[in-house]
Amino acid sequence: MNSNAAIELRGLGKRFGRRTAVEDLDLTVERGEVFGFLGPNGAGKTTTMRMVLGLVRPSAGRLRVLGGAIPEDSAEVLPRVGPLVETPALYLHLSGRDNLRVLAAELGGVPPGRIPELLELVGLAERAGDRVSRYSLGMRQRLGLAVALLHQPALLVLDEPANGLDPAGIREIRALLRQQRDRGTTVFLSSHVLGEVERVCDRIAILHRGRLAYTGTVESLRGSAGRFRVGLDDADRALRWLRAQPWGSDARLGEAGEVEVGSPTGRGRDLNLALAGAGFVADSLTAVQRDLEAAFLELTEG
Ligand SMILES: Nc1ncnc2c1ncn2[C@@H]1O[C@H](COP(=O)(O)OP(=O)(O)OP(=O)(O)O)[C@@H](O)[C@H]1O
Ligand SMILES: [Mg+2]
Repeated sequence: MNSNAAIELRGLGKRFGRRTAVEDLDLTVERGEVFGFLGPNGAGKTTTMRMVLGLVRPSAGRLRVLGGAIPEDSAEVLPRVGPLVETPALYLHLSGRDNLRVLAAELGGVPPGRIPELLELVGLAERAGDRVSRYSLGMRQRLGLAVALLHQPALLVLDEPANGLDPAGIREIRALLRQQRDRGTTVFLSSHVLGEVERVCDRIAILHRGRLAYTGTVESLRGSAGRFRVGLDDADRALRWLRAQPWGSDARLGEAGEVEVGSPTGRGRDLNLALAGAGFVADSLTAVQRDLEAAFLELTEG
């Protein structure tokens, strides 16, 4: 195993009785990256994250977190991890600020200025003195994030951090995650919000029925559908010419009057060359992208 990675899962599996929640999972999250974990309900995301946090014992396989084995090195490793898994465990009868104070005292070594700074960061400064029992779902989630960040962890493990947040809150989290990445923190987060993950994650994994269906960048998931949209002056004439080519017989006119067609080789430059060779000058040529949601559903349906 590459001990330099932030998280390494090898052949990881978890059964609950006869139900297999996670099966033969191999996954590496490199240090410093923001890694998104996607998958439909019941895919095994939370179970995997709980294993990473030492909260659930794997039925099979090995896992290393920040270079240490879980559970053997948990005592050394887990204090460097900031967890947010499902409903954060908070003291409901205490204020948001006091929750942070109590936890800071337990952890030790948290500078006093850190708490007001964090309350500001997660947008709770104004309500910091209210009891948590009076907080809304989104406010509890924000406080949960502040808890995860309290001791400036090297690795954040966040299970659906956007859960319950309004659009402004989601945007704040995105900024917060980028800021964390910029200071070198590794982030492993799960989400159902594809658009959200796309905007903040370096790489993603898609889990389907406990198995890995995809790992890579969002761009390569989306990929090019191998088709191009070409803007040119004489679209009708170009369309006739393209349809007469063996590779262009399915060319069609797009909604904005542009031509949509494949390329003789699959590459945009060769389409451009072919068009130019026939006397058509393209104003613009863009790859048609696969819809991310469609790509996701393709991997996780059926
Ligand atoms: N403690 C448990 N006992 C029995 N089965 C469990 C337990 N925890 C999870 N499971 C099962 O494991 C599977 C994976 O659940 P998990 O919570 O990891 O999915 P998830 O990807 O987080 O889903 P969601 O998107 O809904 O949060 C499900 O079939 C679930 O019913
Ligand atoms: Mg879950």
